[in-house]
Amino acid sequence: MNDHDVDDVAFLTSVNHYRTNGSQSGIHKRSLYEHGGVAICSQRKALIIAFIFLSVLFLASLIIAYFGPQNDCPCIGMKPMFLTEENGVNASRTVIPIATNGEIFPWNNLRLPTFVRPERYHINIHPNLTTLEVKGQTSIDFRVEKPTDYIVFHSKNLTIIEKILINRKNNEKIEITKILEYSAGQQMFIELDDELQKEENYTLVIKYTTRLGRELEGFYLSSYVTRSGEKKYLATTHFEPTYARSAFPCFDEPQFKAKFKMSILRDRFHISLFNMPIKSTDDIGFYMGTGLVRDDFYESVEMSTYLVAFVVCDYNHTHTKTSKGISVSVYAPTDLLPQANFALDTATKMMEHYEEFFGVPYPLPKQDLIAIPDFGAGAMENWGLITYRETSILYDAVETSAAAHQWVAVVVAHELAHQWFGNLVTMRWWNDLWLNEGFASFLEYLGVDHVMPGWSMMDQFILDKTQQGLHLDALSTSHPISVTVYDPVEIEAIFDSISYSKGAAILYMLEKFLSQNILRRGLNDYLNIHKYGNADTKDLWSVLSKHTNQTLEVKSIMDTWTRQMGFPLVSIRKENVTASTYLATQTRFLLTSDVPNITTIRQPSSPFKYKWYIPLSYYTDQTNFKNVETVWMNMTNITFEVDPKVAWIKANVNQSGYFRVNYSQELWDNLVVQLKKDHSVFSPADRANLLDDAFTLSRAGVVNVTLPLRLSMYLREERNYVPWATALEHLQNWSKYLSEATPYRMFQQYMKYLLEPIANEIGWDDTGSHLQKLLRSDILASAVLCEVEPVTTEAKNKFKKWMQEGVRISPNLREVVYTAGIKYGGVKEWQYCWARYNSTRVPSERKLLLKVLGSASDPWILQRYLLSTLNRDMIKPQDVKTVLGVVAANPDGQLQAWRHLKARWYTLQSLFGNGTFTMGGLITAVTSHFASDYDFREVSDFFRPMDVGSGTRALQQSLEMIQLNVYWVKQNEENIFQWLVNNDFKY
Ligand code: BES
Ligand code: ZN
Repeated sequence: MNDHDVDDVAFLTSVNHYRTNGSQSGIHKRSLYEHGGVAICSQRKALIIAFIFLSVLFLASLIIAYFGPQNDCPCIGMKPMFLTEENGVNASRTVIPIATNGEIFPWNNLRLPTFVRPERYHINIHPNLTTLEVKGQTSIDFRVEKPTDYIVFHSKNLTIIEKILINRKNNEKIEITKILEYSAGQQMFIELDDELQKEENYTLVIKYTTRLGRELEGFYLSSYVTRSGEKKYLATTHFEPTYARSAFPCFDEPQFKAKFKMSILRDRFHISLFNMPIKSTDDIGFYMGTGLVRDDFYESVEMSTYLVAFVVCDYNHTHTKTSKGISVSVYAPTDLLPQANFALDTATKMMEHYEEFFGVPYPLPKQDLIAIPDFGAGAMENWGLITYRETSILYDAVETSAAAHQWVAVVVAHELAHQWFGNLVTMRWWNDLWLNEGFASFLEYLGVDHVMPGWSMMDQFILDKTQQGLHLDALSTSHPISVTVYDPVEIEAIFDSISYSKGAAILYMLEKFLSQNILRRGLNDYLNIHKYGNADTKDLWSVLSKHTNQTLEVKSIMDTWTRQMGFPLVSIRKENVTASTYLATQTRFLLTSDVPNITTIRQPSSPFKYKWYIPLSYYTDQTNFKNVETVWMNMTNITFEVDPKVAWIKANVNQSGYFRVNYSQELWDNLVVQLKKDHSVFSPADRANLLDDAFTLSRAGVVNVTLPLRLSMYLREERNYVPWATALEHLQNWSKYLSEATPYRMFQQYMKYLLEPIANEIGWDDTGSHLQKLLRSDILASAVLCEVEPVTTEAKNKFKKWMQEGVRISPNLREVVYTAGIKYGGVKEWQYCWARYNSTRVPSERKLLLKVLGSASDPWILQRYLLSTLNRDMIKPQDVKTVLGVVAANPDGQLQAWRHLKARWYTLQSLFGNGTFTMGGLITAVTSHFASDYDFREVSDFFRPMDVGSGTRALQQSLEMIQLNVYWVKQNEENIFQWLVNNDFKY
C-alpha cells in the first residue's frame, strides 16, 4: 500500500470532469462562505468603511422601496419575492431578509419555490471523528418546471468551498453569477448566467465543510465507554424535522422526494451505515496516517430528506431475516449486544405483521435498528436505519421491568409503523404532522397487541393516548391537530400530545365507528395511491369515505376533530321525569372557562363553531355492556329512548370516543351506587373512564368536587390496572395541588385508605400477568409515597438487604424499593444508587436510577443532583429534563427545581442548542404543579421578557395550568376538607 496521504476529498475529483461554459471565475475564486480569509485594517478605517457601506445600503433600500418594480419580480436586489397563493403557500416573512454579505436576499419566503424538483442526490461525506471536521460533496440532479435564472435551497452552517452547475443534456457548465446565504432562513440563493429551461435536467454540485456538533441534531458526535473503560466515538444523524440541511445542502421539505446515493469515507476500525445496504467498499489509501476506505451504498427509493440517516461507529450487530427475506439487524456497542435480542425478535415479527396488515410490502432490502448513546428523542424512523435511544431498544430479561419492556416493544412498533405511515406516504407539509405521528401512535398499540397478545395493549391505549390528549386539549392554549406552521421553531413545537395522542385517539374513535376491516381496507388503498409520494388529511378522508361506499361522510365528521381545537363535553340527562327520553347536549369543554381573569391567548373562532360529529355509544343497567347502542350527534344535541326502568347510563363505551361525558346528578348518583355495589358490570376501561371524567369535570368546576371523591371510594375493591392507573394519576395530582392547602394531610390519609387493601393484597412476589406486574409496581410505589404501612417498612428492608448483603430485587419491585431507600435514607443510600447509576451496563436500570435519585428528602442531596445536570459528564443533556422533572415532582424538591431552572436558564439553554424544543418540556415539567398565586407570578414574571422559541406554547400551557390549579384549590379546599372530615378515613 502506498503510504503517502491521499486527498481526503478524493471523491470530489469527478467535479472536474465537466467541461466549462463561459467564464470560470465563479468557481475558483475564494467563495463568499469560505472561512479563513481574515482582512486586517485599523479600527477607524473599519468604522468609516462600515459607515459608507451602511449608508449605501440604506440609500439603496430606499430607492428600491420607492422606485423599484412593485411586482413579484425575482431579480436580485429588487423587492423580495413572495410566493403566490397558487403556489400553495404564502409564507412570506415580515422583515426583509438580508444575506450574509449585506445584500437583500431575493427570496422572501420560508418555503422553497416549487418549480425546482430535486430527483437524485449523491452525497459523499467524510467525518473525521478525531478533528470533528466533516468534508462533503453533494450532487443534486434536478429538473425545473418553468424557466428560471435562480434556484433556492436549504443549507445551515455549511461552508461552501465550490459550486458547479451542469446542464446534463450537453454536460456543460452554467455559470453561477452569485451565491447568497440567508442564515436566519437557512437558505441559499444561486443566481445564474443562463436561464434554466423547463423540463430540462441539471446537476448542482456543492463541495463544503462543516463540523460534527455536540447538539443532538444534524450530523453529530456521540460517545460511549466500553466495559474496560475506553471511550469510543461515533458520528450519527438526526434530521427530523429540519436538520438535514445542516449535514448536506438540500431541498429540505417533505414534499421534495428524491432518490439518495451515499458514499462514506471512514477508517478501517469503523463501519458505516446508511438507509440502504453497502454495494462496494474500496481502499482509497492513507489520510493523516490512517488507512481510509470508502463505502458506496445502493441507491434509495424516493424519499424525503428528513428520513436520510448515516452512522459511522464501531458497533457489532445481531441479525435475522423476515419470512419474506428482508434482513433485520440490531446494532449496538459490543458489550450491550446481548440486550438487543428482544428488539430484533419484535422488529422481525412486527415487520411481518405490518406487511400483512397493511397489505403493502416493505420496499427496502434491509431494516437496521441502532442504539445511539446520545439521542434527543426516543427514536427516529429513518427509512431502513432506525435510530434509538438506548432505553428504547435494549432489554435485559433479568433486569428490565415490565413497563420498560413494554416501552421497547412500543417504540419498535411505532418506528416500524412509520416505515409505511410517514416514509412510504409522507405528509405534504408539516401542518399535517399528525398523519405521521398520530398514525404511528395508534398503530404502535395495535402492533404490540398483535405480537404480545397477553399485554392487553388496547386496554392500555386510553391511558396513554386518549386521556393524555384530553388533558392538554382542554386548555384554551391548545391547538387544532391540523395547524399552520412555517418556520423550524413552529414545526418543532407541534411534536406534542396533540399530534401524537389526540391524533392516535381520534383514529381509535374512527376505527370503532368504521370497523377495523373498513379502516384496514381504506389504509391499504391510501398507501397504494400515495406511495413514494405525499398526502394531506383530506386525501385520507376521501379514501376512507370511498370504503364506506359514501355511507359516512368521513371528511365532514373528521374535520370537526382535526380542524378545530378542543373536544366536546356531552351532558346527558332525562328529558322529563316520567318518560324514557334522554337528552344529550354538546358544548366545548374548557378546563379554565370559569377561572376569572385568566391570561390566555385570544380564542380563535372555529369553522365549526365548536360543534362536533360525535358517535355517542352507551349502555344502561337494563342492557349491559354487551349491548352497546350508538347514536350520532351531528354537530347538534340529540334525544334518544331507553327503557324507562333505567337507573344509569354509561356513555362513551370504553372511552373509545375523544370526548368527555357529564351526567345529571341522579345518573351520577346511581353510577356511584353501582360502582360500590358491583363494579364488574362496567369494563375496566369504563371504570377508568368514569374516574377520569369525574376528576376532570371537577377540575373545571362542572361537577362538585365531592363527586370524584365519592366515586373513588369503590377503589378499595378495584384490582385492575387500567382504572387504578387512571385514579393514581388524578389522586397524585390532587395531592400536589393541595400540598400547601388545609386538607393535604387528610387527603394523604384518604389515599392511604384507598390503597391499603390492594397494597397489602398484591404482595411482593414479582409474578402474574403483564398487567398485574404493572399494577403491583404502581401500587407499591404510590403506597410508599403515601407512607402506607407495612409496605414502606418492607421496601426499606429490601433496600437495606440489597445495599448491605447484595440481595437481588426483582425488576418490577425496584422502583418502590429504591424510592423507599432514597426517600427515607441519607447520603449513604443516595451515593450507593448514584454509584450503581454510573456502573450499570443496563440502560433501563440507569433510567430507573435516574428517576429514583430525585426522590431524596434532603435538600443538600437534591441540590447536588440538580447541579449535576450542568455537567455533561455526569448527566447527559438528553437526560436533563428527566432529572429536573423528577426533582420537581418530589414535594421536597419542587421549589428547588424551579430555582435551579431560573438560575441556570441560559446555561441549560446552551446545553440544548438553538432548537429550544427541550426548554418547553423543562418549563412544563418544573412548573405545571404549582398551585399558588405567588408561584404563578414568579413564573410569569420570569418568562415575560424571554423568547422561549418553540417552547412558547408549552409556556402558555403551563401558565394556564397554574392559574387553574390556584383557582381550583381556592374553590375546593374547604369542600374537600369538609368531605374528608365527615367521612373520617382513619384506619
Ligand atoms: N419522528 C419521531 C422522532 C422525532 C420526535 C423527531 C421529535 C423530531 C422531533 C419518532 O417517530 C417518535 O415519535 N419518537 C417518539 C417515540 C415514540 C414511541 C412515541 C419519541 O421520540 O418520543
Ligand atoms: Zn413517531
